[in-house]
Amino acid sequence: MVYQIYPRSFQDSNNDGIGDLNGIKQRLPYLKKLGVDVLWLNPIYQSPDVDNGYDIADYEKIQPDFGTMTDFDQLLAAIHENGLKLVMDLVVNHTSDQHKWFQESKRSQDGPYADYYIWRDPVDGHEPNNWGASFNGSAWTYVPERGQYYLHLFAPEQPDLNWENEEVRQQVYSLMRFWLDKGIDGFRMDVINMISKVPGLPDGPLAQGAVYGDSSKFTTNGPRLNEFLQEMNREVLSQYDVMTVGEMPGVTPELAQQYTSLAGTELNMVFQFEHVSLAGNPDRRLGKWNDQPIKLSELKKSLSRWQEGLDGKGWNSLYWNNHDQPRAVSRFATDDSKYRAKAAKMLGTTLHFLQGTPYVYEGEELGMTNAHYTQLQQYEDIESLNAFHEYVEKEKIVDEQTMLEYLAHMSRDNARTPMQWDDTQNAGFSAAKPWFALNPNYREINAKDELAEQDSVFYYYQKLIKLRHQEAVIRYGSYQLLDPKDEQVFAYLREFQGTTLLVINNFTTETVERDYDQGKGKLLLANYPAGKLTELRPYESRAYLL
Ligand code: GLC
Ligand code: CA
Repeated sequence: MVYQIYPRSFQDSNNDGIGDLNGIKQRLPYLKKLGVDVLWLNPIYQSPDVDNGYDIADYEKIQPDFGTMTDFDQLLAAIHENGLKLVMDLVVNHTSDQHKWFQESKRSQDGPYADYYIWRDPVDGHEPNNWGASFNGSAWTYVPERGQYYLHLFAPEQPDLNWENEEVRQQVYSLMRFWLDKGIDGFRMDVINMISKVPGLPDGPLAQGAVYGDSSKFTTNGPRLNEFLQEMNREVLSQYDVMTVGEMPGVTPELAQQYTSLAGTELNMVFQFEHVSLAGNPDRRLGKWNDQPIKLSELKKSLSRWQEGLDGKGWNSLYWNNHDQPRAVSRFATDDSKYRAKAAKMLGTTLHFLQGTPYVYEGEELGMTNAHYTQLQQYEDIESLNAFHEYVEKEKIVDEQTMLEYLAHMSRDNARTPMQWDDTQNAGFSAAKPWFALNPNYREINAKDELAEQDSVFYYYQKLIKLRHQEAVIRYGSYQLLDPKDEQVFAYLREFQGTTLLVINNFTTETVERDYDQGKGKLLLANYPAGKLTELRPYESRAYLL
């Protein structure tokens, strides 16, 4: 299983308020104790930080805030000494506009880097098509020196690389080798299914009343994606013993069968977005922004589709949250206060006993919650701020209070508050003022208390991880959903070589009665002390070996 670290918010070692590589090194004993196998670090490369490191200016340099290349080499060595592996973020759909390639590319229409990005002539003095960018506004920005527009599916400071250009691909492979030759153990590939665009870049569909078209049909899972991934695999990945996971918005199980095929010609796993996109806004223009609960039957349907779709054909990644998603317990449980710890354990059980590789995002193992911010000034993330300005101030399609509620529910900043290590000032994250405010609940929710309390979320996660290592049925078993329409309980079976695992999870704050014939099984794990056999208390989870 993989533990995700958001380096800015994990541990500050030199008291400048920003988490860093030496901070991660200091916390290896904690991660060892939890029992994780692999660490994935969000980007640590040189970056102007318009999108917190997802805008890379130099792929072969460490962001000075995080330390030096020597610090990196020492961290990697320490990770390996501890028997752990390291996966790095690979962000190659786009670079920073400060990258040398872009600085050269924007100067003129000829020159060695002219074709490294996606440049188009104006059409009738306007943008080449109607596409909107992920962080609002047009996906095109005009550069007078070239008299052309360049494409950026994210912020204007994140120009998209032109993967049609063979030289660009070779540059990417070379930077991958740079890190692999240092001995890293794999890559998490940022929006990697966006590297092949449909030729001609046609206009996207317009939602009712929307200013910009939706480009996704023409920019995700594009016509040359398999070819590019196979080439990358042939030229680079297959030469090393590594794991890969591709972040893929809009991927389907059918496509993931190709991308993660067990033949091993592309990637090992993908991050799909279906289960984190189930609640939406009825006003399509507002995209992901909403404050709606998720219907359990839909969550079950979606996760089951992926379980069944990839069984024996590909491999799933399993996650509730990451640096782009709100905190699991605040989102997938309706109560993150009174029953917070129970709910956190229940969610852990539901996810970790599925087939696939589980990912735990820093603080999830403590049951950390959303920040519950109420004012715009408390936010930092470019996506959240841009969305507010666009929808509240510019387009005026939502009022301020409602949008603040959407941010509180969905903002990426909920995941980015510093790690809560203890109850001292700044939660033991830093002696200086942290780059981003702490969640005020750090005095009640922190690693120190969790480690001191036998019945904590931390030790429950430790058990989940250990059980996966021990029980083949958890790793390899087939999957069968029970009672798909049940809106209160998520129950399923896993089966492997004559062993059956029954997993039962109450997703509500109510006590409910359910009979799955659990009496004939042996209890493997539960988040409550023994109770009545068929009674499930609020957020109760039980797993039985039958
Ligand atoms: C991915 C990253 C996200 C980033 C975006 C653009 O979705 O996870 O944090 O903003 O790509 O690079
Ligand atoms: Ca620091």
